[in-house]
Amino acid sequence: MLNTNTAPNIFALSSLRVSTNRPEIFTITSGKGGVGKTNLSVNLALLLKRLKKNVLLVDADIHLGNVDLLLGVRPTATIAQVMTGEKTLAEIIIKGPTGIDVLPASSAVLDMIEAEEKVIKRIGDSFVGFEHNYDFVVVDTGAGIGKNVTAFSLGSDKLIVVVTPDPASITDAYGVIKTLLQKVPSLPIMLVTNMVRNDDEGLNLYKKMNLMVQRFLGNKILFGGAIVRDENVRQAVQNQSPIVLEYPNSLPTNALKLITRNLLKMPSKDARERVSLFDGLRNNRDTIIGELDDQSSK
Ligand SMILES: Nc1ncnc2c1ncn2[C@@H]1O[C@H](COP(=O)(O)OP(=O)(O)OP(=O)(O)O)[C@@H](O)[C@H]1O
Ligand SMILES: [Mg+2]
Repeated sequence: MLNTNTAPNIFALSSLRVSTNRPEIFTITSGKGGVGKTNLSVNLALLLKRLKKNVLLVDADIHLGNVDLLLGVRPTATIAQVMTGEKTLAEIIIKGPTGIDVLPASSAVLDMIEAEEKVIKRIGDSFVGFEHNYDFVVVDTGAGIGKNVTAFSLGSDKLIVVVTPDPASITDAYGVIKTLLQKVPSLPIMLVTNMVRNDDEGLNLYKKMNLMVQRFLGNKILFGGAIVRDENVRQAVQNQSPIVLEYPNSLPTNALKLITRNLLKMPSKDARERVSLFDGLRNNRDTIIGELDDQSSK
């Protein structure tokens, strides 16, 4: 029985995972690599920060953390050191431009998903309290639909899928959407079309994808907006300077602002289904590991 007369100690309550004032979690994924996830994640985080909000950008790419490459900042430690107890989450945060915080999660996230209970508990305890410092968490995932991407995607409140007109990108984006909606049909998904020739091409690509989702999955996805293929984006990535800072009046920057507005307007996951970033990973870890056990026992 909780004693309601005393102020709750968030660490003592960690097993309850109280989720009041928790941040809204946005995960960016795509299936196919190289379609513009990191560019979108970084710029989205910067635009959310402009709203005077506290923003955490999580680099969850398991192979090669790349948020730091795009921002020109280098991590000195990752979640691996949090798992061993050497560092706290706050100690591994890197300060990005305009005051966004970057969590270099990289390949250690996969270890975290499969870690022993006592390690999971240690990380869980360090996440509780820590993530309440933020209004928004933006998670940049790697390519594919591995365990790490699935766990982060299913745990998020809103999922952004990036697709380009390339047929391989369309197939892979549909594959991701199908896999995730089959697991969680209520997951809110927004499609962002990237590297299109113009807005019409972007909108038509969305319509085509949404039709497939309606027809074959009996579900729907929303349209976030279209980013044209633009030399300034390539240049900004190469200069390790995000386009919203480097080219504030460019077409891609205006598209990114529209996408940010659409994302904020989009209905979030049902409050009863919303959990903390860590619990999202933990819950889905159990689902994923359970599935792997089922497969290996067949
Ligand atoms: N709208 C665009 N116009 C022109 N070039 C773009 C655009 N979006 C992305 N690019 C280019 O595509 C490259 C890949 O972008 P980015 O790193 O954001 O993709 P990613 O999906 O995160 O890749 P990975 O799967 O390897 O993590 C960038 O180096 C950039 O040059
Ligand atoms: Mg990337």
